[in-house]
Amino acid sequence: MIEAWLLPVPGSVPDLVERVRPGLADWEQARLERFAFEPDRVLYAAAHGLLRLALTFRHPSVPVAQWEVERTAAGALVVIGPVTPTPQVSLSHTKGLVACAVAAVPVGIDVEAVDPRLDVASLFERVLSPSERAAWPAPGDAARRRFFQTWVLKEALLKGLGLGLQCEPATISVAFSETTPPAIVEMPAAIARPADWGVAFVDPPPGHVGAVAHRGPPGSAAVAPRLIGLETLLASFG
Ligand SMILES: CC(C)(COP(=O)(O)OP(=O)(O)OC[C@H]1O[C@@H](n2cnc3c(N)ncnc32)[C@H](O)[C@@H]1OP(=O)(O)O)[C@@H](O)C(=O)NCCC(=O)NCCS
Repeated sequence: MIEAWLLPVPGSVPDLVERVRPGLADWEQARLERFAFEPDRVLYAAAHGLLRLALTFRHPSVPVAQWEVERTAAGALVVIGPVTPTPQVSLSHTKGLVACAVAAVPVGIDVEAVDPRLDVASLFERVLSPSERAAWPAPGDAARRRFFQTWVLKEALLKGLGLGLQCEPATISVAFSETTPPAIVEMPAAIARPADWGVAFVDPPPGHVGAVAHRGPPGSAAVAPRLIGLETLLASFG
């Protein structure tokens, strides 16, 4: 079972950072200090608070502030205690929303706000594989949404792999339609095999798209969406 947590975050939330900060690790608190812009600080505090709440939901005996979390050199989050085996996690933040996935297997999550002003065509070469570009639909709202859906599937996979942008998104191909669930159909052989990674869309609030990727054969893990509100997050931090 993969838990996919979604937490809507309006731009300004009084007290959120101060309420969550004491429950974070020293390195996360130091990171909070370095943000130049308050909305980025709020999203970071919300996401890293959500991570702990999601872990405690899975292991209710561990209070939110007792999770031991580190960051790899590539930027991925790793839970190192206090339970064993340690859960696998992934985080994402975008305008208005943060997300967190928790699983027993390597997992990645990505959410994006569907920006109506982004010049998506300028990103085709970087994000879409040659086969995806060859079959790309004509410009319009549906094509824009499809671009963001393609983006989150690839980002979720790259996060699950722990790679981030060390792998070019255009070397990966995904497939999905109104009637067929998403799948990875092509990726560099040196990285992994499509048969070893499953992907699924999560259903975030309007104006956003989201996806989860997990190690294991496609369809082998159920994704449980969990939408929560800020009050629940804040209450868990006392
Ligand atoms: C950093 C990256 C992994 C995701 O960035 P992003 O989508 O802009 O931002 P998100 O909020 O969704 O994800 C950031 C989180 O991913 C996690 N992360 C960062 N590097 C990671 C890695 N190598 N592996 C797994 N997770 C990683 C971190 O938890 C990070 O949040 P934190 O710094 O608060 O801990 C990377 O893929 C990136 O820079 N992407 C830029 C966006 C882009 O151009 N995408 C191309 C479309 S496919």
